[in-house]
Amino acid sequence: MDIRDFSMDLFSLAGKRAIVTGGNSGLGQAFSLALAKAGADVFVPSVVDDDGTTRALVEAEGRRYAFLEVDLTAPDAPTRIVDACTRALGGIDVLVNSAGICLLDDVEAFDRAKWDPMVAVNLTAPFALGHAVGKHLVAQGSGKIINIASLFAFLGGQWSPAYAATKHGIVGFTKAYCDELAQHGVQVNAIAPGY
Ligand SMILES: NC(=O)c1ccc[n+]([C@@H]2O[C@H](COP(=O)([O-])OP(=O)(O)OC[C@H]3O[C@@H](n4cnc5c(N)ncnc54)[C@H](O)[C@@H]3O)[C@@H](O)[C@H]2O)c1
Repeated sequence: MDIRDFSMDLFSLAGKRAIVTGGNSGLGQAFSLALAKAGADVFVPSVVDDDGTTRALVEAEGRRYAFLEVDLTAPDAPTRIVDACTRALGGIDVLVNSAGICLLDDVEAFDRAKWDPMVAVNLTAPFALGHAVGKHLVAQGSGKIINIASLFAFLGGQWSPAYAATKHGIVGFTKAYCDELAQHGVQVNAIAPGY
């Protein structure tokens, strides 16, 4: 490829199919819209549906939108999501692991009742879905996984040791999958929004 062949079309996601966990609220909704604006169809698995806003945003870009109500921590969630996205959109090219929770408390009160669900949603669920989708992407020899970390992947912070621990953890998982999957044509990255 010559430098004169460069085109902004290289950034186009036209025809790609993207899963965005928790993609119907907060940052996830912004990722869904950005992917649609870049040309991708969007599949959102989330524990709660919205009022139709996300569908309207994606469809206004001329892209398809599908939703699955699912608890990402359920053991069968990865299989259900891969199957439902493949049925609805015809395949998977991108996974954005965006869904996350942040429970807060004073350090003496922050116990396993807060730690365990945060590890389940913020770390184990992205791994489990990354594993299931990763197998699919490796088989097709292309694709992208983007894990949403945080500034607290680099800092400790206060009131939530599990937030810092799970966000550090997802960066480690990202680095491992980046090394493992690159040889199969699959790119794995993390984004660290500022909090
Ligand atoms: N908002 C910020 O400023 C900020 C900053 C840094 C990092 N982040 C990270 O960005 C991501 C999105 O954050 P946000 O603030 O937009 O969150 P949000 O609370 O607006 O959205 C989270 C989404 O995840 C879904 N979700 C939560 N638990 C789930 C479960 N068990 N199963 C299925 N869906 C579930 C929720 O229904 C919701 O749609 C998170 O990983 C968060 O840690 C956010």
